Amino acid sequence: EKGGYDHFMLKEIYEQPSVIKDTYRGRLLADQGIVRLGGLENYIEKFTNAQRIIIVACGTSWHAGLVAEYIFEDLVRIPVEVEYASEFRYRNPIISEKDVVIAISQSGETADTLAAIKLAKSKGAFVYGVCNVVGSSISRETHSGTYTHAGPEIGVASTKAFTTQITVLAMIALRLAKAKGTISQSDFMLYLRALELIPNQVEEALKTDDKITEISAAFKDARNFLYLGRGYNFPVALEGALKLKEISYIHAEGYPAAEMKHGPIALIDEQMPVVVIAIKSDHYDKVVSNIQEIKARKGKIIAVVSKGDTVVKEMADYVMEVPHTMEALTPLLTTIPLQLLSYHIAVMLNRNVDQPRNLAKSVTVE
Ligand code: F6R
Repeated sequence: EKGGYDHFMLKEIYEQPSVIKDTYRGRLLADQGIVRLGGLENYIEKFTNAQRIIIVACGTSWHAGLVAEYIFEDLVRIPVEVEYASEFRYRNPIISEKDVVIAISQSGETADTLAAIKLAKSKGAFVYGVCNVVGSSISRETHSGTYTHAGPEIGVASTKAFTTQITVLAMIALRLAKAKGTISQSDFMLYLRALELIPNQVEEALKTDDKITEISAAFKDARNFLYLGRGYNFPVALEGALKLKEISYIHAEGYPAAEMKHGPIALIDEQMPVVVIAIKSDHYDKVVSNIQEIKARKGKIIAVVSKGDTVVKEMADYVMEVPHTMEALTPLLTTIPLQLLSYHIAVMLNRNVDQPRNLAKSVTVE
């Protein structure tokens, strides 16, 4: 049932091209310029009239929420807050019928997320779900929603759920941007075509697996890792660090690259691998200077770069290439090498990759 793979996690990483396609199939029609999500069509105005969108989730789903914050604010121009469900529910949050809540959950059973939904509903907010498990508690408790079509995710470390959540959230943002008039027709078309290309590009990113295995062997004995990214790829840095710690038990921290000089830079010495997402984007030059700062302190650089990059390639100890796409969609690609890196390191350390210690696939107690 692992389909020839050694672990469910690896199988699920490799399923991403097909499940991303399954997630947009019938919903994204790039040629016709259409994005249509069944659960959303009747509630478009709820969203476009909202004073605020609040996203609630935990763990990896919370990271997908952070990516969505950037996409929504960029494309739809509605203020977004992303909350840990566990903090939101116990904070006496200010929330009303003018707010729309999006709850993101692979399992649809996470206790804190479910409780946050109930609280938001009791205050009159409209609650939209992004879940993977059909008929789950969260899918039943929300007013409407869109399923990710990732198929069953068995590995405790979430992989394909994350990329399919971002796929759904990007489609929601595009549909709303179109309705609200905050995107030009030409940009809208560019996004649709770019999203349609993602499965093939994920496939291409997966082909760097041998290179990543080599990098994993070089760093498997490190005690700490730092992950840095900016903008759309700051949440990817958090997600990369979470993946590494949960399955390899190596301490890892994700940071926005510019925050490094406000503290974490003190950690950098020749023992410290720093994974930097340094793809071609509006922040490229800034990330390059962050890399220089790390090099000056003898940190080891493992960089995720755009295909064809030369500048970072010169500076980094190792690079992992991903194809080029529109900036808002880059997390769908930059995440792939980081999933593989944590997987291979964990395997080399003989960890129980699919069932890491102390973790449960769905956290149904708070
Ligand atoms: C990390 C991981 C967890 C889950 C979190 C939320 O790899 O799997 O952090 O993302 O427990 O779970 P769901 O999405 O089922 O609500």
